Amino acid sequence: MGAWAWWPGLLFGAVPLLCLAAWHFTDAWHCAAFALKYRGRGSKGSRQRLPPGHMGLPFLGETLSLLWYFKLVRRPDDFIGAKKSAYGDGVGLYRTHLFGSPSIIACSPAANKFVLQSADSFGIRWPVPELVGITSVGNVEGASHARLRGFILAAINKPSSLRTIATVVQPRIMAALQTWADKGTIVAATEIKKVTFANICKMFVSMEPSPMTDKIDQWFGRLLDGLKAFPLDLPGTTSRAGRKCRRKLNAVFQEVLEARKKVHTGCDDLMSGLMQMEDEQGKKLSDNEVVDNIVSLVIAGYESTTTAIIWATYHLAKSPVVLAKLREENVEMNKSKSGSTLASLMITYDDIPKMKYTTKVVEETIRMANISTMVFRVANMDVEYHGYTIPKGWPVLVWLRSLHTDPNYYQDPLTFNPDRWEEPAKPGTYQVFGGGSRICPGNMLARMQITIILHHLSIGYEWELLNPDVEINYLPHPRPADGTSMAFRRLST
Ligand code: HEM
Ligand SMILES: *[C@@H]1O[C@H](CO)[C@@H](O)[C@H](O)[C@H]1NC(C)=O
Ligand SMILES: *[C@@H]1O[C@H](CO)[C@@H](O)[C@H](O)[C@H]1NC(C)=O
Repeated sequence: MGAWAWWPGLLFGAVPLLCLAAWHFTDAWHCAAFALKYRGRGSKGSRQRLPPGHMGLPFLGETLSLLWYFKLVRRPDDFIGAKKSAYGDGVGLYRTHLFGSPSIIACSPAANKFVLQSADSFGIRWPVPELVGITSVGNVEGASHARLRGFILAAINKPSSLRTIATVVQPRIMAALQTWADKGTIVAATEIKKVTFANICKMFVSMEPSPMTDKIDQWFGRLLDGLKAFPLDLPGTTSRAGRKCRRKLNAVFQEVLEARKKVHTGCDDLMSGLMQMEDEQGKKLSDNEVVDNIVSLVIAGYESTTTAIIWATYHLAKSPVVLAKLREENVEMNKSKSGSTLASLMITYDDIPKMKYTTKVVEETIRMANISTMVFRVANMDVEYHGYTIPKGWPVLVWLRSLHTDPNYYQDPLTFNPDRWEEPAKPGTYQVFGGGSRICPGNMLARMQITIILHHLSIGYEWELLNPDVEINYLPHPRPADGTSMAFRRLST
């Protein structure tokens, strides 16, 4: 036996033992700190308790466990599933340590609703508010939030706005599909991203594709990366690059706004809408608020819409029966229009309620797309929930995705089955757009854009996945690893 023989013993024995000890110690330490701080503070002398769960390893917390489920084993819902089996279903609250801080996870319909609807108890605290936009609707709170939301809802969620938007985005979608068919094979993720962005530029600021919009697109890409990255503001970090791009974007849109003030062009777009609107006191948004919110609306709407449309093409390629039914309804809709003008080839906002099956496909697509894994809040005060304490200052991660893949709420949850929407979801179990005072103001716009593209896809084209069994990446967004490559052609009639 050489002198080094003790090394393997250390590696295979002592190191795991130390890790285990650290793991136990971390949770015990956090709980003891909590008990000490909250000693005797319970109402009517009751003891204060943290929700069940575990704080993971020192510093890292449960980050490794999260990466394990999302990145390595590719079963993201087992991150929550493992908690349920270790600590029981309980009230849907668990303690954890994620993203550098002790936190609470909410993951049941009732607990999520409680957090999302108690805007006084749970506020917003972004790691880097500057990236989200200091004066943007996603960052402000209270009365300013309500006022700003009013403006944004009027601009993108009102029937009259949606009616206009439908006519603005549709020609681009129709033209894009023709170019896909000309190419024959496409990487859907790339093409869908391109047309979604072109439409955003048109809808928001009336910009046509140009070298400038390509630049803007790159800056948005880096800004989005910055939002997902560790919030370290040092030279060379992704976060720093994101901040830089945010400043460039704000500057570009500021210029657009200045130009508009000089020459009163009658642009019928989101920027003009936001510039003109007044609240009850006749007060308008400041220039800075307009610009900041335009940038933030692109952030909120760009990747989410792209992802949903990618999944629609993916699931339909795998579900010929669904596609056939979708095609039938949409061909019928197309037939109901006559004439040879461009307008007669488009659907309108008012057609959508008639497209009953298409609506189900859209809902099912959004459910399966798992777009928002979670939303973030912070406890503004100590909050009691069913005997547990959410300590003041702790982040609360409202876990949305596990609801939509829970077999207790959705039969056979991993099957793409639009017919499940013949009945509405059980109350509180469909939270894809969040809830409460911050429920997604773009939800009708997102649904409409998916409906429009489904209409034109189904009546005019057919497509097959080149790699139907490709694995799915779950970070940062669930998507097929090959970008959803497909053969794409005009429907032969
Ligand atoms: C399928 C697509 C989409 C999904 C699944 C989605 C999901 C969500 C969710 C879950 C929230 C809540 C965040 C929170 O509570 O903190 C949210 C907020 C928001 N979404 Fe969406 N979204 C989508 C598309 C869009 C689009 C197209 C736009 C606009 C162009 C948009 C604009 C916003 C804005 C501005 C907020 C912040 C609202 C506030 O804080 O009051 N979203 N979205
Ligand atoms: C949503 O999550 C489930 C469960 O992890 C997964 O199987 C499914 O593929 C996901 N859907 C998409 C579109 O990623
Ligand atoms: C849709 O209807 C128009 C007539 O209004 C017709 O010319 C066109 O071929 C139809 N499109 C498809 C894909 O059936």
